[in-house]
Amino acid sequence: MAITGNQRVLSGMRPSGQLHLGHYHGVLKNWLKLQNEYECFFFVADWHALTTEYENPQAISESVWEMVIDWLAVGINPGSAKIFIQSRVPEHAELHLLLSMMTPLSWLERVPTYKDQQEKILNKDLSTYGFLGYPLLQTSDIIIYKAGYVPVGEDQVAHVELSREIARRFNFLYGRDPGFEEKAEGAANKMGKKNNSLYHQLRMDYQEKGDELALEKATALIESQQNISIGDRERLIGYLEGGGKVIFPEPQALLTHTPKFPGIDGQKMSKSYNNTIGLRENPNAVEDKIRTMQTDPARIRRKDSGDPEKCPVWEFHKIYSDDGVKNWVEQGCKTASIGCLECKQPVIDTILKEQEPIRERAKEYADDPEVVRGIISEGCEAARDVAKETMDEVRSSMGLTYK
Ligand code: TRP
Ligand code: SF4
Repeated sequence: MAITGNQRVLSGMRPSGQLHLGHYHGVLKNWLKLQNEYECFFFVADWHALTTEYENPQAISESVWEMVIDWLAVGINPGSAKIFIQSRVPEHAELHLLLSMMTPLSWLERVPTYKDQQEKILNKDLSTYGFLGYPLLQTSDIIIYKAGYVPVGEDQVAHVELSREIARRFNFLYGRDPGFEEKAEGAANKMGKKNNSLYHQLRMDYQEKGDELALEKATALIESQQNISIGDRERLIGYLEGGGKVIFPEPQALLTHTPKFPGIDGQKMSKSYNNTIGLRENPNAVEDKIRTMQTDPARIRRKDSGDPEKCPVWEFHKIYSDDGVKNWVEQGCKTASIGCLECKQPVIDTILKEQEPIRERAKEYADDPEVVRGIISEGCEAARDVAKETMDEVRSSMGLTYK
């Protein structure tokens, strides 16, 4: 997707302990690129972790620091990105509460992750208020910074979509100056009875269902009016689009196009499959894991030939090896001229080399927790400045300033 303008990027990750290579190749490398191009906000979604880990909250705080160390170790740079912890910016919670007042229950119930996760995660009771509100809390994370872009994986796109709808609804409900509505209604009347009712129908289709075609039709209708003033025209457009003032711009998902990163069993690398290689796992453990990886089941003995397409090791070669090595693997495997351990060695070497600087930097941060805490404090403060400013605007547009 082409990105234009100097927009804000925001993304968050739930703390889940130390990260693995899948996080690095899937998410963090993308963040590294974005932090040089945009004003980035990256945060630890510790409240979101509570939606499922509410029985064991102590584990979360440990994971928070491990994850922050991982971010810093791969090169997320506090000089260019603001790195912070969600719960240290309590304005997210205030906005969540206010949004909860104007969010129809059905909007939350129909978010696909709601039912999916409840069906998948059977060992926890997820029929809680907080779990239903998960994507609404995520919405407040996003729009409180007026973020334009939200880098997320496929599974989170529906959440960003909800935040667009909520932003639109908020602007519609609270983005109007006093008297604006009456003036717009007056202008609509001037178009004549038939056009007036068509305008209202199209406006409703757009605002309630996001029907872009209705927006186009209504705009054309307004443009075609001969006998209304420019002021009325603008009023009608503003009223159509949802009010005078855009308090929350609608964010867009930046879908991260990364092929799935394989785990040591050939499935997608994921903590829940127990097939991960930690970002800064001990080199001997990494070597062990790869040496004992399953290969093509047809290669029982060294002299049996194999097929890389049936082997999880090959998935790693596809990511890590150059053409020369890949040719060597394909030839060697199919003709049984190399053994599987031999074949795995270049993968081991490349992964260890990739991890080395990360492991070293992580150790420096782990040995100096004060530095990490300092970075986070600064990030929280900077994020909070922005969040507070937005909340002032939110309260005043809702008439909640008691001064
Ligand atoms: N729900 C996201 C995940 O599980 C984490 C998250 C929380 C997030 N708030 C966010 C991501 C805001 C992007 C923007 O991955
Ligand atoms: Fe897999 Fe390599 Fe063994 Fe072939 S030679 S089965 S690709 S590990």
